[in-house]
Amino acid sequence: MALTVTPLENVGVEVAGFDIAQPITDDIAAQLVALWDEHGILLFRGQDVNPERQIAFSRLFGELEIHPIAETRSEDYPELFTLVNEPEKEKFMTATYKGRQLVGKLDWHMDLHYTGKPNRGALLRGVVCAEEDGMTGFGDLAKAYDALDEQTQTLLQQLEVTYAFSMQRRHMRYVDVDGYEPGAYSPRKPSDINYPNFPEVAYPAVVTHPVTGRKVLEICEQFLERIIAPHKAGLSNDEAIELLERLVAHTRKPEFHYFHQWEPGDMVLWDNWRAMHCATGTRPGMARVIHRTTIMGDATLGRVLDA
Ligand SMILES: [Fe+2]
Repeated sequence: MALTVTPLENVGVEVAGFDIAQPITDDIAAQLVALWDEHGILLFRGQDVNPERQIAFSRLFGELEIHPIAETRSEDYPELFTLVNEPEKEKFMTATYKGRQLVGKLDWHMDLHYTGKPNRGALLRGVVCAEEDGMTGFGDLAKAYDALDEQTQTLLQQLEVTYAFSMQRRHMRYVDVDGYEPGAYSPRKPSDINYPNFPEVAYPAVVTHPVTGRKVLEICEQFLERIIAPHKAGLSNDEAIELLERLVAHTRKPEFHYFHQWEPGDMVLWDNWRAMHCATGTRPGMARVIHRTTIMGDATLGRVLDA
C-alpha cells in the first residue's frame, strides 16, 4: 500500500492512504516516520480518531510523554493532554491585541525550548473546533536556514543565542508588542502558575538535527534574548541586536509557514526539533478542544546557563 503525499501551501505535507482504525503495518509505519523526518510537518484529515487511536498512532513516532501535572492529565489516558477553552480557564489566557480580545494567542515557539531539552515532537487533534479563528501555525526552520545567504549562514555557525523564559509578553525582546495589553488575569511570574524560575539557556544559532542531520535555524521570537559574546565574531552589541531582528523577521516570512484551520478529526504532527509553531487565538467564549500527544526525545539541544 502506498501513501498519498500532497504538499501543503509552503511547508509540510498532507498524508493520506491509510486508515487509523485499522492496524498500521510496519511498512506504512516506516513510511510515515520517513515522511516526518523529510518534511517536519504532517497533516492527516478525515481519519476516524479517538483517544486510543491517537495514542497508538503517536507511538509510531517515538515514546510518549506523560504530562507532568497530574491535574491536567486525563485519568483514562495519561498520554493525552487536553487543551480546552472554557469560561473558567480562559480568563487567564485572554489578552488584548490591537484592540481585540483574544484567548490563547501564542507567539512562534518550540515546546520546552526554554529548558534546553525540547521534546522531539507532538501531535494535535481537533476535537471541538472554533467556528472562526483558532488556527495553529507551523514554521519550518530548516527551510528558513536553507534560504539564508551564505555569508549569514557562515556567521551563524560561530554564534550562540540565549532564551530567557518569562511569563510577561511585554518583557520579551523580539515579539511584536505593538498594541498588546495583558489581561487582568494574565500571570505575572512563573510561580503564578506553579512554574519554577527557569535559568537562561543557550543554543547554537544553527542546530544540526540529531536525527536527520539537517541544519535548523535555532531562532524563534518567543523568549529570544541575546547573542552570547558577539564581539568574538566581530559584532558590536548593536549589530548583534540588529542581526536577531533580521533573523526573526526572516522566520516570519509566509514562505516558511503553514497555518491550519481546524476541522474535527484533523491531526497535525510536527518535528519540534525543526519546526516552530504558534496559535492565532480565538475570541472569548468560543468552544475549542484539542487533544495533544507529545513525543519525547533523547537529545539535549541547548545548554543551561547556570553559573
Ligand atoms: Fe506549543
